[in-house]
Amino acid sequence: MEVTAAHGRPVIVPLKQWRHDLQAMADAITDRTKLLFLCNPNNPTGTMVSASEVEQLLSRVPAHTVVVFDEAYFEYVRSQQFPDSMAYVKQGRNVIVLRTFSKIYGLAGLRIGYGVTTAEITNFLNRVRPPFNANSLAQCAALAALGDDEHVARSRAVNATGMEQMVNGLTALGFAPIPSEANFVYVDVGRDGRAVFEAMLREGIIVRHIEGRMVRVTIGMEEENREFLAALKRVIHPH
Ligand SMILES: Cc1ncc(COP(=O)(O)O)c(C=O)c1O
Repeated sequence: MEVTAAHGRPVIVPLKQWRHDLQAMADAITDRTKLLFLCNPNNPTGTMVSASEVEQLLSRVPAHTVVVFDEAYFEYVRSQQFPDSMAYVKQGRNVIVLRTFSKIYGLAGLRIGYGVTTAEITNFLNRVRPPFNANSLAQCAALAALGDDEHVARSRAVNATGMEQMVNGLTALGFAPIPSEANFVYVDVGRDGRAVFEAMLREGIIVRHIEGRMVRVTIGMEEENREFLAALKRVIHPH
């Protein structure tokens, strides 16, 4: 939507086995490609692309294309293969790393995040950035949040155990959730996902139906995960 509003032409590169297909993305670059957007870990699949895959991609990205890494779920990542995108910025590459306080920091209502990029790209962004884009209270809270390592560690740990509980529970119900590096899991529920979404809503639980048989479930606290799994069981085996 933003691309179209800026009179750009969005080119969508399909996922391959639920992961971004970096080779196909590189193949799709033309001399008119200004921006390559990579959501990593990806929403809604939770999948990630590795450092070696990203480096291969970057080696094929021409000088006129900026690569944007949307790392909204960065703090949840457990894989050792995850790319160090900040290092690409330090190397002076044409990249922008986006992070947010909306996810692990739980501050979505404050509407604050940050981007890290080169001085040159920052200079261009400052020319088009709205003057009052992040209010001072939100900035104050964000700075305090950055210093709260204990909160991040605890949230990561709760998510990791919750993810295990959720994956085990879904597997026990006969599903095969896609391995996720985020705070949600994407799963083929084997039937119309919209119907499952609606039935779960009647159980008082909101999941996201994205397309077809796929449903995205956010990891909660232990009790919430348990309630979700019990409700899903009732929904798929109503008798
Ligand atoms: C991949 C991704 N990027 C960005 C955002 C939005 O973050 P913010 O609340 O900072 O706008 C989300 C939230 O849904 C997301 O899933």
